[in-house]
Amino acid sequence: MGVRSSDLHKFFKIAYHQIIMTITPMMDVLLTVEKNLPRLLEDEAGWNTVDVNYHPPRVERVWCYWEGHRINLHRIHPCERDEPYVHPHPWPSAMHVLSGSYEMIRGFGQGIEDPIILGSTILGADSYYSMEHRDEWHSVRPLEKAAYSLMVNGTPWDREMPIEQSASDLSPLTPEQKREILQFFREFYSGSRPPRL
Ligand SMILES: [Fe+2]
Repeated sequence: MGVRSSDLHKFFKIAYHQIIMTITPMMDVLLTVEKNLPRLLEDEAGWNTVDVNYHPPRVERVWCYWEGHRINLHRIHPCERDEPYVHPHPWPSAMHVLSGSYEMIRGFGQGIEDPIILGSTILGADSYYSMEHRDEWHSVRPLEKAAYSLMVNGTPWDREMPIEQSASDLSPLTPEQKREILQFFREFYSGSRPPRL
């Protein structure tokens, strides 16, 4: 009995989906977070803030914990081309650039030695990416104006970091900054979103 091409197509579609979900579980988490964000954004008191300004680019971060993950709302400011902090992440992560655009340098390397630089990517509004390997490095540099992005973090890897910076050493944002960022995200997620993946 022969195998129909529609069966083969179905098999490969399922196999591909399983591979993608195995490789990029954080992207799945990000999409789930996005479905819940409109409700989560209503609870203004449930969000914390920190002004991440120890190295360019400056990142105004509004964040909360949800379902074992950390959700970060970012307003990232432009900086000079040679300034961005190239860094690994201490946790797997997935990002959605909502507005603005940024240049991202990509690298790879163990420990805290300078990584091998793999290349550069320009990400525009409505771009998605994830960083699922502990030895992946990157830097971001917004082009022209501040970029807004959503970042979701998973369980920490216990990875050594080039700069060990405690969030408790950094200042919170002003209430006005927090309100502006929450309002931007509320407006972005108030409309209908096209289906992803
Ligand atoms: Fe990063």
